[in-house]
Amino acid sequence: MTNSVYAVTGASGHLGRLAVQDLLARGVPSGDIVAIVRTRDKVAHLAQRGVDVRVADYTRPDTLRTALVGVNRLLLVSSSAAGQRLAQHINVIAAAKTAGVSRVVYTGFLNADHTSNPLAGEHQDTERALRDAGVPFIVLRNGWYTENYTDRLAQYLEAGEIVGAAGHGRISAASRQDYAAAAVAALLQNVDGSRAYELGGPSFDLFELAETIRTIIGTAVTYHDLSVDEYINTLKRSGLDQNTAEFVAALDASISRGDLETNSQDLEHLLGRPVTSLATVIGETQHHA
Ligand SMILES: NC(=O)c1ccc[n+]([C@@H]2O[C@H](COP(=O)([O-])OP(=O)(O)OC[C@H]3O[C@@H](n4cnc5c(N)ncnc54)[C@H](OP(=O)(O)O)[C@@H]3O)[C@@H](O)[C@H]2O)c1
Repeated sequence: MTNSVYAVTGASGHLGRLAVQDLLARGVPSGDIVAIVRTRDKVAHLAQRGVDVRVADYTRPDTLRTALVGVNRLLLVSSSAAGQRLAQHINVIAAAKTAGVSRVVYTGFLNADHTSNPLAGEHQDTERALRDAGVPFIVLRNGWYTENYTDRLAQYLEAGEIVGAAGHGRISAASRQDYAAAAVAALLQNVDGSRAYELGGPSFDLFELAETIRTIIGTAVTYHDLSVDEYINTLKRSGLDQNTAEFVAALDASISRGDLETNSQDLEHLLGRPVTSLATVIGETQHHA
């Protein structure tokens, strides 16, 4: 029996890169891994390890069809081009169908069936496109990345505060590393048909985020919860334009409504181990700073 060939789009990005590394770490032969990127130079390290690097762009269907030749299972990492994503994802799904891909694993949005988050629409539409295409798929409805917060750790420590409008809304975040490992598990797993997983880790609110930072690092950080209007004004004073400030504040308002919380254990089940804790991610972030 020949091996399956696994392709990962966005392999030059944070999540895609981790997924390729995880496939290699699990012993998938490098020659059975296709890393799809826009810029070959960004993944020279993967080519050196024998990974089959192919160049394609979500906006150019011909490049996608070529890149997917011979691929059995595809991890479609959602595009970073908000507003243009649906058309781009449809291009990838169509090319996957043409190439005879037998499973598309897609990084979607947590609670896609009922969320009110302003970022979710393109992911919900992509799920519909997957269903319409008739290609077996697994949707990974990813929650927030813990890194959405820990990437700003230095800033929080310097200011001694976290500012937001998320109220006591709980966030079932997980690290990109854990989402990447779950994506690889979904690529490799032996299941038939299509399904969606709700993925997130143990939840915290922003008061608890501040408290965990204080506990792990020993520096006092306080969460200041503002009204949405106050938060918009604060963001504008820090240099954001009106539209961006409104958008960022709308994300926190969505958190306050509970959109980013799940009690699903799907992530832990896919990982086969507990989800990496917030405290551990904070500690590792400090260590690597
Ligand atoms: N759950 C969360 O909290 C969260 C947060 C942020 C984003 N996201 C979503 O999750 C995705 C993965 O996260 P990430 O951290 O890995 O993002 P990232 O580092 O920005 O990676 C995005 C990847 O998409 C590729 N890409 C963008 N436009 C493309 C196009 N037209 N054709 C082909 N490839 C294209 C990029 O390629 P280049 O290297 O060539 O630019 C990059 O490899 C994001 O794209 C976004 O949809 C989720």
